[in-house]
Amino acid sequence: MKLSVANLNSHYGPAHILFDIGLEVADGEVVALLGRNGAGKSTTFRAIVGLVEQRSGTIVFEGFDVSRAPTHEIVRRGLGYVPEERRIFTELTVEENLEVGRQSVRPNAPQWTREKLFALFPNLAELRHRPGGRMSGGEQQMLTIARTLMGNPSLVLLDEPSEGLAPKIVEQMVA
Ligand SMILES: Nc1ncnc2c1ncn2[C@@H]1O[C@H](COP(=O)(O)OP(=O)(O)OP(=O)(O)O)[C@@H](O)[C@H]1O
Ligand SMILES: [Mg+2]
Repeated sequence: MKLSVANLNSHYGPAHILFDIGLEVADGEVVALLGRNGAGKSTTFRAIVGLVEQRSGTIVFEGFDVSRAPTHEIVRRGLGYVPEERRIFTELTVEENLEVGRQSVRPNAPQWTREKLFALFPNLAELRHRPGGRMSGGEQQMLTIARTLMGNPSLVLLDEPSEGLAPKIVEQMVA
């Protein structure tokens, strides 16, 4: 199993948000998490990558128990995360934002380069020297996804990645 989550519980202060969540993602599998607004989808992702302080349960990624690992360690193991709120660096250019995401190649994951990402997102190629803060919402969304891919992740958690993107770009991404 690529990712196994069992008995995941999360709290924000006194509010209990996730109740014994379990999910599994096999190699090569695509899993969708559906739910109404406020159901806890983003919290589930944030808890898996260690961004929710109060979490308990078991999270195993590629055979390693990362339940108590800090976020940077989980990401360095190859688990990519694209947050719902585009967390780009507004003062850095597109190219510099991509550099921030760069990690070494992994034998079990696709190898991304800037040029491959620019081929996937032609809009970003045209804006390569533009500061992130001076881009449209959809362009920032593409940059967020591209920056995560620069880390050559072997699994990516995408939180509403198609929000604000043209259908054509979404089609390219899925392909
Ligand atoms: N930082 C926070 N502090 C306190 N409560 C929060 C925080 N973030 C989210 N919540 C609450 O946790 C619950 C789950 O929120 P979450 O963002 O995980 O939902 P979601 O399924 O991603 O919703 P959406 O479809 O709107 O993105 C909601 O009741 C929300 O109000
Ligand atoms: Mg959400």
